[in-house]
Amino acid sequence: MSEDLYRLIYRSRRLKSAPADRFTTLSEILASAERHNRLTGVSGILLHDDLWFIQILEGSEDAVRSTYGRIIADERHDDPVLLSLEPVKYRRFQTWSMASFGIGMDSRLAFMRMGIDPAIDRARLTPGQIVSLGTAIAALSDIDFTDEADTGRCVA
Ligand SMILES: Cc1cc2nc3c(=O)[nH]c(=O)nc-3n(C[C@H](O)[C@H](O)[C@H](O)COP(=O)(O)O)c2cc1C
Repeated sequence: MSEDLYRLIYRSRRLKSAPADRFTTLSEILASAERHNRLTGVSGILLHDDLWFIQILEGSEDAVRSTYGRIIADERHDDPVLLSLEPVKYRRFQTWSMASFGIGMDSRLAFMRMGIDPAIDRARLTPGQIVSLGTAIAALSDIDFTDEADTGRCVA
């Protein structure tokens, strides 16, 4: 089956808040992301550390554009910056409607595997590095679905 497939990558700033509130916010974001993405055929990953969200959305051009349109209006984050939007031949992250992975220092192994300095300012990651990193983190993470949103969710 052929599909007009696009990959959109953006980053945004996380709002400052207490850790417990951040966790709740992330869980709520993922719940609504899953609900919508399942209907629109969007899949991807949401990477996050204390300062940043970096998200990869894959799906039809219409679906990723309209999803991004909703996301940038969301007040749970700030300053979204579109890093890339391009056609792709296949999905890298087809398993998840939306999975989330931390990219703090505890994920340094994935950075090192990809030859990226684990101390890099996350805002300087290029789209290519983000895709590699997302792939490495997803592969390395022993996803435990009982462990809430921070370790990722599988809805496939
Ligand atoms: C960092 C971040 C990532 C998000 N990712 C998605 C997503 O992948 N898909 C989606 O539909 N909504 C996503 N959202 C939520 C949308 O911004 C929006 O709140 C939601 O789609 C509105 O739907 P609801 O009112 O039915 O929950 C995200 C929001 C934030 C802050």
